[in-house]
Amino acid sequence: MDSIFRRRAVRKYTDEKVDEEKIQKLIDAFQAAPCGMHQTDVMELSVITDPELLQRIEDSTRNSCYNASLVFMINTKKGSQFGERDASVAAENVMVEAVDLGLASVYVMGGAMAMNQFPNLQKDLGMSEGFETSVLVPIGYAAEDGSLEDRSKRYNVVRK
Ligand SMILES: Cc1cc2nc3c(=O)[nH]c(=O)nc-3n(C[C@H](O)[C@H](O)[C@H](O)COP(=O)(O)O)c2cc1C
Repeated sequence: MDSIFRRRAVRKYTDEKVDEEKIQKLIDAFQAAPCGMHQTDVMELSVITDPELLQRIEDSTRNSCYNASLVFMINTKKGSQFGERDASVAAENVMVEAVDLGLASVYVMGGAMAMNQFPNLQKDLGMSEGFETSVLVPIGYAAEDGSLEDRSKRYNVVRK
């Protein structure tokens, strides 16, 4: 079945590490995301696998990344009208690609907001001056299925 439909928010991961080839494909998916007005300087990505840095993220964000061994931190330029939108479409690209690669993930906004209270950590994670964290995407091998909710009628859809 299509990866879009197989993607589910997953909040429990095994300890298995994601290999370099898959990480590169996830980065490629990030790079292929739509880009508002082609303003390529309003978004950047930190890819985090270092265990000490991952632990600092968990400690600073009340375990918002669910101990995943890989976290994509998507940062956007403060005040940009495109930044958060770019970050969301890029996160979805990454999450759908993750499914294709046999991985799972979840869109994390709460942890992203918490990260913005820790500028030193963001700097250590490579975030540029004038940016803020918009989305965190923990990624790993699923240790749970995620919700099996029927999503076919989640939103109101009007056809005319
Ligand atoms: C804007 C937005 C913010 C979200 N923030 C969080 C979050 O902070 N923590 C979390 O665990 N999940 C978060 N999620 C994931 C949602 O809870 C999840 O997508 C929703 O429950 C629907 O489940 P599904 O993705 O399996 O369809 C967020 C999703 C979106 C789109």
